[in-house]
Amino acid sequence: MSNNILKGKRGIIFGALNEQSIAWKVAERAHEEGATFVLTNAPIAMRMGEINKLAEKTGSQVIPADATSVEDIENLISQSMEILGGKIDFILHSIGMSINVRKGRHYTDQNYDFTHKGLDVSALSFHKVMQTAMKLDAMNEWGSILALSYIAAQRTFPDYNDMADNKSYLESIARSFGYHYGMAKKVRVNTISQSPTMTTAGSGVKGFNEFINYSEKMSPLGNASALACADYCISMFSDLTKYVTMQNLFHDGGFSNTGVTQAVIEKFGEE
Ligand SMILES: NC(=O)c1ccc[n+]([C@@H]2O[C@H](COP(=O)([O-])OP(=O)(O)OC[C@H]3O[C@@H](n4cnc5c(N)ncnc54)[C@H](O)[C@@H]3O)[C@@H](O)[C@H]2O)c1
Repeated sequence: MSNNILKGKRGIIFGALNEQSIAWKVAERAHEEGATFVLTNAPIAMRMGEINKLAEKTGSQVIPADATSVEDIENLISQSMEILGGKIDFILHSIGMSINVRKGRHYTDQNYDFTHKGLDVSALSFHKVMQTAMKLDAMNEWGSILALSYIAAQRTFPDYNDMADNKSYLESIARSFGYHYGMAKKVRVNTISQSPTMTTAGSGVKGFNEFINYSEKMSPLGNASALACADYCISMFSDLTKYVTMQNLFHDGGFSNTGVTQAVIEKFGEE
């Protein structure tokens, strides 16, 4: 369904790795809603070449950028303005990675080089993107910048490991930068805290299949899909949400405000 609510808007979308990626769905929906945008991902993530299919489908160009490199981000943002023919209206930061998780290091036995790298990729990169955009005066007034988060930023989910700390930092950056960007340019900055979703990053978390089932049963509306998340992102990029900024917005079928559900209680009756 398309209502052209992003007609005339220009964007940059980070993080479309394959069809499962939340960023992939956002790109498809943004295209349907009339936006033009540049797709970007880490050079190493381009090796599979999947992103080119998305670029073709959405009439977009791809610019590789490691989101931890300010130089790469500068190049990405300046080139995007040239390609798209003006300043940017929306940016999606859909990036997350923990080497401790990948290598199976327990939260209480971290390799701090891994921790630093994960923090840089998953959280500090969001600051780098916004600081660079601000310095280049790349955003239009009332532009909208989003990053994706998870409720482990507020509550403990043991197997989420150091990604929980990264997400807390990410959400804090959204508030702090949101203040400054709002004051300076009326740009809004938010994070969307999404249900667990079956993607490459998601399935890296230990016990993810069990966890996704638990979360489904603990959410009155069930888990939100990647496509539903994309729809929410589109609304946040549109002019219909102009005064929403510095927020962490739960998109989780009600999980975050549910203490327990009947379905979960019944599981315990089975013993
Ligand atoms: N899948 C879930 O359960 C879930 C739930 C809540 C939030 N999120 C968040 O959603 C976002 C997108 O993840 P996804 O689930 O779509 O998985 P995904 O694996 O498809 O996307 C993660 C992306 O991060 C990119 N990336 C990693 N290192 C990078 C770097 N140095 N520079 C640029 N890009 C880099 C990867 O190439 C990939 O495209 C992440 O922030 C993730 O934490 C995911």
